[in-house]
Amino acid sequence: FILNFVEKQRWTFITSGLKNTLIITFFSLILGLFLGAVVAIVRSSYDKTYSEMNKGIKKILFSILNGICKIYLTVIRGTPVVVQLMIMYYIIFASSRNSLLVAIIAFGINSGAYVAEIVRSGIMSIDLGQFEAGRSLGFNYRSTMIYIIIPQAFKNVLPALANEFIVLLKETSVAGYVTIRDLTMGGNIIRATTYSPFLPLIAVALIYLVMVMFFTKLVSILERRLRKNER
Ligand code: ARG
Repeated sequence: FILNFVEKQRWTFITSGLKNTLIITFFSLILGLFLGAVVAIVRSSYDKTYSEMNKGIKKILFSILNGICKIYLTVIRGTPVVVQLMIMYYIIFASSRNSLLVAIIAFGINSGAYVAEIVRSGIMSIDLGQFEAGRSLGFNYRSTMIYIIIPQAFKNVLPALANEFIVLLKETSVAGYVTIRDLTMGGNIIRATTYSPFLPLIAVALIYLVMVMFFTKLVSILERRLRKNER
């Protein structure tokens, strides 16, 4: 009877797994965007081409902050996300059993490093002349950034950020390493309990594929809209 019951509820491994996958992706994207924006701002403020804060205490402060950001970027992008996830779960938050929250933090910190470089390249993609024009019109550094550089950079960066979301969605498939029943793990549980790998694994792949195709479509519509705006 119990086996029969379990069998009837099998598909719920897929649906609840999908729910966990989406929860992790969504919240770690938000955390990643926040971290990435902060790091990008620190890094490009430090950048001498844009900044005139190369004197006194501010200079020291920004070189320390920039150093911290550089270490963050190097370590996070230099190690596999699965290893970071396991370090978070088994070492740093070893006493926490809220694996979903730990995964959100781990993926968020990981994504932040990639977002930071996306945002920074977006800021650098704006011609220096735009900055100089702002300054010569009487804007100071801060308002040149806010009213002239950031709005243009945002447009350049949006498609790459949407792409980061898609990467992150697939990247969360390693969440099973820290006992999370995400979409991939859901399919794997069904495979293990039924001894038939084909249907659950293909179903999982198709669900990822459909989601990625959907978001890719949205990104290309977005890109087209933004380009139309330029003419
Ligand atoms: N899969 C690689 C890793 O384990 C690359 C991750 C890329 N992640 C990203 N959010 N762009 O580190």
